[in-house]
Order: sequence, then C-alpha cells, then structure tokens
Amino acid sequence: MPDTIQQIHTLAADGAALVFALSNDDTLPRIVHWGADPGSATAADYGSSALPLLAGQHDGWQGRPGIVAGPFPHVRLRLTEPPTFTATTLTVKASDAGIEVVGEYVLTPEGVLRIRYTATNTDSSAWNISDLRCLLPVPDEAQEILDFTGRWALERVPQRLAFAFGTHARENRRGRTGHDAATVLAVGTPGFSHRAGQVWAVHIGWSGNHEHLAERLPDATAVIGGGELLHPGEVTLRPGQSYTSPWAYFAWSDTGLDGIRGRFHRYLRSRPQHPRKPRPVVLNTWEAVYFNHDLGKLKALADQAADVGVERFVLDDGWFRYRRDDHAGLGDWFADETVWPDGLKPLADHVHERGMQFGLWFEPEMVNPNSDLYRAHPDWVLADPGRLPYEFRQQHTLDLANPSVFAYLLDRLSVMVTEATVDFIKWDHNRDLIEAPQVHDQTLAVYQLFAALKQRHPHLEIESCSSGGARIDFGVLEHTDRVWTSDTNDPLDRQQIQLWTGLLLPPELMGAHVGPEKTHITGRVTSLGMRCATALFGHAGLEWDLTSCSPRELAEIADWITLYKRSRELLHTGAVVVPDRADESSVVIGVVSADQAHALFSYAQLTSTPSNTPLSPAPIRLRFAGLAPLMEYTLKVVLGPDLDFDGAVFGGRALETIGVPVRRLNPAEAMVFEIRKVGS
Ligand code: DGJ
Repeated sequence: MPDTIQQIHTLAADGAALVFALSNDDTLPRIVHWGADPGSATAADYGSSALPLLAGQHDGWQGRPGIVAGPFPHVRLRLTEPPTFTATTLTVKASDAGIEVVGEYVLTPEGVLRIRYTATNTDSSAWNISDLRCLLPVPDEAQEILDFTGRWALERVPQRLAFAFGTHARENRRGRTGHDAATVLAVGTPGFSHRAGQVWAVHIGWSGNHEHLAERLPDATAVIGGGELLHPGEVTLRPGQSYTSPWAYFAWSDTGLDGIRGRFHRYLRSRPQHPRKPRPVVLNTWEAVYFNHDLGKLKALADQAADVGVERFVLDDGWFRYRRDDHAGLGDWFADETVWPDGLKPLADHVHERGMQFGLWFEPEMVNPNSDLYRAHPDWVLADPGRLPYEFRQQHTLDLANPSVFAYLLDRLSVMVTEATVDFIKWDHNRDLIEAPQVHDQTLAVYQLFAALKQRHPHLEIESCSSGGARIDFGVLEHTDRVWTSDTNDPLDRQQIQLWTGLLLPPELMGAHVGPEKTHITGRVTSLGMRCATALFGHAGLEWDLTSCSPRELAEIADWITLYKRSRELLHTGAVVVPDRADESSVVIGVVSADQAHALFSYAQLTSTPSNTPLSPAPIRLRFAGLAPLMEYTLKVVLGPDLDFDGAVFGGRALETIGVPVRRLNPAEAMVFEIRKVGS
C-alpha cells in the first residue's frame, strides 16, 4: 500500500474529470474520482481510498485484475519514472521484472476519456499476456446497468438490470463485434433516463473478441471497463515484443443518456477522418435484385434511381465469379465473365454518367470452399492445424495475418477499385470466427487492410457491414465511413435499432434504407411515410426495386429525398435529443442545430395502446427537448399526416414543458416536425 498522498492531479474537460492521487513512492497513481469536474482539490479532500491503475492483488484489489501476464500470474508493477501529466493527459510507465507497461489516458475536449495500455516483454524469454483491461471506479450512486444484446436483424436490444454485487461481464468470443455486442455498458443513478440522472459509460473500440464489465465488490468498490478477450496463448510476446490493448472509451454525464450520446457523437465528429461531405443518398441493389445481376435491369434501376435524386448506386453481392447464389465464389474477386462479359465498367460508367457514385460489395475476409481461391490455397483458411471449423453460410474465414493472403486481397480489391472506378465499398463479414487460432492478429490485419486500401485510393469510402450491424465499434470506425446498421429495413424494428445504435454513433454514420411496402425480413407491411420518416434519421438510402414502383410512390420518394437533402446538414451535425416519455408504445427523437434555431423531430407510433381507439383516439402531447428556453419557434409537419399549426408561435420552454397535442397516430405511422426559430 502506498505511503502518503503527495499530489492530486485532475484531467478535466467539458465538465467531466478524472482525479488521480499520486504517492511519494513508486506505486502507480490511484483514481479517486471519475465524474463531475470538482474544480480545485487537495489531497485532504480525498483521503486514501482509491483504485490504483492496473489494480492487482498486491494492491489489495480482489476484482478482475488490470493485468495478467507472465510466466506467473501476479504482476507487481512499480513506476519506472514519474507520471507525465498535462491538463488532459496522463502517461504512466511502470515495470516488473521482465515486463514494462505504458498507460495512456487522454481526456478529449468533448469529455470522452480514452485509455489504453502497452505491455512490452523486457525479459529474455517469452511472456503471455492474458488480460490487459481498463477499469474506472464508479460511486455507490451507480445502481443500475444498461447494456445491449441482439441478434441478426434485431441488433442493440436494451437490457436493464440492477448493478448488484458480483461481476456483470459481457464477453464476446465471436471473432467480430457481434449482433449481440454490449456496444455501450452504462451504469447510473436509479431510474437514469435519456435526459436525467448521472451515467457512467464505457465502450471498447475493438472488432475482435472483447469484454465489457461492471463489477461491485463486497467492500462496496464498483468499477466499469473492459478490454480485449484473449484466449490462452493467443498473445505470446517474445523478448522485445509489445501488445497494445484496444482503446477503451469512457464517458460520464449528469444529463442522462443524452449527455453520453452527445459526448460520443462530438468526439467522433472531431476526428480528422470523420466524413464531412454531404452524405449521399444511396441506392443499394441487395433487396432490389439479390443475385439476379443483369446489366440491362441494373441500368434501368440506376436510371430510375438518378431520376428520384439518388447520389450513390451500390452493386451488392453477386457480381463476382461463380456467385449465382451464396454457395460459391467468395475469394474470387473478378467480375463474373458469364454475367459481366465486359466487366463492371459499363455499369459503373452508366452510373457515373448519371451523376452518381458507384459502390461495390466485397466480403474480403471470407472464402467459399467452392471457389478457385480455396481450390488453390486451402491452407489460407484461418484454422487450427489440420482442422477446419464448421462452415457457416457455406464459408470459411481467411487468415489475414498470413502475408500472402493480405497481399492477394489488397491486390484484388485494388484492381477492382481501379478497373470498375469504385467510389465506395460495402465491406461485409457474414460469419463468426469459430475455433480461430488467433483473433487478435486477424483484427489488426483487417484494420491494416482497410488502411492500405485507403492509402492506395484516398477517395474511397468504406462501409462496415457484418450481416447487418455485427461490426459496429470505434475500432472499425477508425478506418470506415459508415456502418450498415442492420439487415432489417422494417421501420418498426429500425426505430429501436437506430435509437440505440445512436447511443454510440451519430446519424450520419448509420446506414438507413427505405425498402418496399412488405419488408423482406419480417414480412410486415408498412406505409411509405413510416419507412421514409425512419430512414431520414440516418445516412439515408433506398433498397428497393424502384422500377416496380408506382408513379405515386416515386413522387413520394423524390419528395423525401428533397427533404433529406435540405435537412442533412442539420441531421448530420446537430445534437441528438431523446425526450423522456413514459409512453413505450412510441419513439420520439430529434436533432437540434448547434445554435438551437432549427430542429427536426420524429414521432413514430410502434404499437397500439389502450388509449389508441381508432374511432376517437385520445391526443398525445409531444414535448420537444433540447431547444433554447427563451427562443420562439414555429412548427411544421414535413412528413406524415398533415397538421396545421396555423402560424402559431411557441416558446422553447413551453415546447419542452407543455409540448403540443397531436392526434395519436395508428401503429406503424410516423410524422416528422420541423421546428424553426421565428424569423430564421
Ligand atoms: C449481408 C448484408 O448485411 C446484406 O446487406 C447483404 O449485403 C448480404 N450480406 C449479401 O450477401
């Protein structure tokens, strides 16, 4: 145990702070507070109880250890030099015999705390790293947990539970982020909601195996955090080698989940690579034609798309050798000579001539046994020696850490991007990695492949898709420009999926498409208005055979695209606001501009309620939060059932506290309100 506290150091930004206590010996700094910025503080304010960085048993810590490494399980780290602080960063260097660890703590201007550790083997023999996790303490007041689960076509289903004694560990061994990923693990004061309560949240920015956890110990200490989940022997460091943990992202808020959302969104938007050009309206061919690729049909689809205002045409799965269905061809990244005798260029040219970008689907990490690639290189599969994992969707995973595999993929993707003049890649990943001898190297290798491809083709944008939304995390977003949020285009399910994916990602990063009247995946029939209102609050697009649409539908789609184009700057830069409501049968979500002079809110009714009598429905009161209390606003319905506010003027405070009465919509109906400051 440390001697006495010598110094207190605070990292502070945007109202959030992390306060460290430093001792006058070589013990690691201890965290005494994570939450609201306490302003100036002295050692006496804190006493000596606190969580050491990388806490272990020698610190008296009985929870999951910060580090497990070595030839023996218990590392005792001691500082090798005094920690380095700035107002927003801490770097700490420590070692034990045979290992050196560097910890990096960075508090961004948006109040997001990024933490990672690098461990280096300084011994003369090998060291195993089994755990290197980032943990932060949370106070007693954190009594409830919110995180997420899900499945294919229904990602990010929230689950709420008591933060009881013991460990709530969300472990993922799928080799990809997962449809059931925790995504964000938040703990908070009892009843914390979208707009109220204190919340402490963590997200692990990693696309391989990982854990998020919340742990409360009998001595009442509680922590949240996580890291990469390594299987035994997965990371063995030879002398001189290092392992770096993924970044763990922490955010604290005293304005409920909206505060967490805001910090994560503002952090992502501050990154230099964040997409800043207007997010183009997409037409994706998947649910329009599936594997039935025919140049004439696709040209007609592109024509129709251009006519309604589409700006990016994406040719999905089915264009490469042998790929007449999902049983063959993965790995053979050559345009199929029987279907595309002149290659993809004629379609790409046609698309470009109509002023649209051309996008192309790949699933680079995968191979079908029925492919030339597999026949030539069966040993390129990611597998234990002499064993094949079971097939899923008739496919295996390639070992991207094998330099020959990496070089082949980089070359084929690069050639296709050049030959077919590709502006955008939809990068899919349709299976879990089962019995993979290593996931860590595979994950790093795919990040490197993204980077290498973008280096060769700086204009290229990449979408992270993984059977829908199974690879959504800040790690993959370092290299990609949007995610495919879910395979379902059912607007009712999408309302929930987008609401909760939006706890992490701002709308411009979430692909959201309007599909046909009868949703392919759920079979549900919904109105075009409902579908359009839902897709408006993302990076909008269509996934529909527009050549089969009626003139009325095409006109409605064109109007919606016009609305999206004139609203996207607001939608893709503003603050996402989710008003607190007792009514769980509907979703209300809004985006408010930075100057609070402009906002769009959608109200979507998902199910029937006892007060939803079709003959005489009781009105509901919609309250719009996040506006400036003293500004005056006008309201207009820009999508959905017409409502005339007759030029009425509403104060911002009144809109939040009293709201406006509207007819309760029928299930699967939605409306979008545009709110403008008077005179703007
Ligand atoms: C899964 C994706 O999520 C879909 O959008 C589509 O691209 C298919 N794969 C194609 O196989």
